[in-house]
Amino acid sequence: MGDQFFKLWEEDIKLLEIEKWAKDNHIPIISKEIANILKTLLIVKNPKLILEVGTAIGYSTLWFANYSSEQSEIVTLERDQNRLSKAKKNIEWFNFQDKVNFKYGDAFEIIPYLRREFDFIFIDAAKGQYLNLFKMAEKKLSKDGVIICDNVLYKGLVRNKKDVKHKMRTIVSNMQNFLIYLKDNKYFKTDLFNIGDGLTISSRRNL
Ligand SMILES: C[S@@+](CC[C@H](N)C(=O)[O-])C[C@H]1O[C@@H](n2cnc3c(N)ncnc32)[C@H](O)[C@@H]1O
Repeated sequence: MGDQFFKLWEEDIKLLEIEKWAKDNHIPIISKEIANILKTLLIVKNPKLILEVGTAIGYSTLWFANYSSEQSEIVTLERDQNRLSKAKKNIEWFNFQDKVNFKYGDAFEIIPYLRREFDFIFIDAAKGQYLNLFKMAEKKLSKDGVIICDNVLYKGLVRNKKDVKHKMRTIVSNMQNFLIYLKDNKYFKTDLFNIGDGLTISSRRNL
């Protein structure tokens, strides 16, 4: 039996090439740790319709496409045209184009017009906008759906406010307000995981 048999999808040479491209071009992508949590959640929840806010070059999109069922669909939003066209190429490279629906533009202008309910929503966009993005996304979540947000501890600064440089203060305090919203939320229960740069997983409370 060749070595290839023991290779995980995440060790695919093409995926590693995309990781390197992202690093060389300073494009932020999810860490391997976060990717593995998403993978586990996808396997457990088996979502049919996934919404991703913040495609960048389609790295996390590839994980969604690979670890969701064949009938699943991923709608992914990105406001940077160059990144989005690179994402399209990457998705085609893996032959996942039939599962992925790319939408170019600002999430705030697109989400209100999405007509379907999503089972799995991943927010990985501008860090100062999470509260408003979440409020918009929750209206589009199916009954048993989950909303996952990445980087909620924002480089560790959300917990360590005294080291925050002036230009980052607004982002950090917006992120704190977002976490307070989740903590005190009557309709959603949220777990905050201290992994990567902080990850929240929210689902509806049984009221
Ligand atoms: C951290 S990157 C996404 C990384 C990607 N999820 C991955 O792990 O491969 C965040 C992306 O969100 C995009 N973005 C930020 N705010 C946005 C908004 N309001 N609407 C659409 N895209 C947005 C940025 O242009 C950027 O490419």
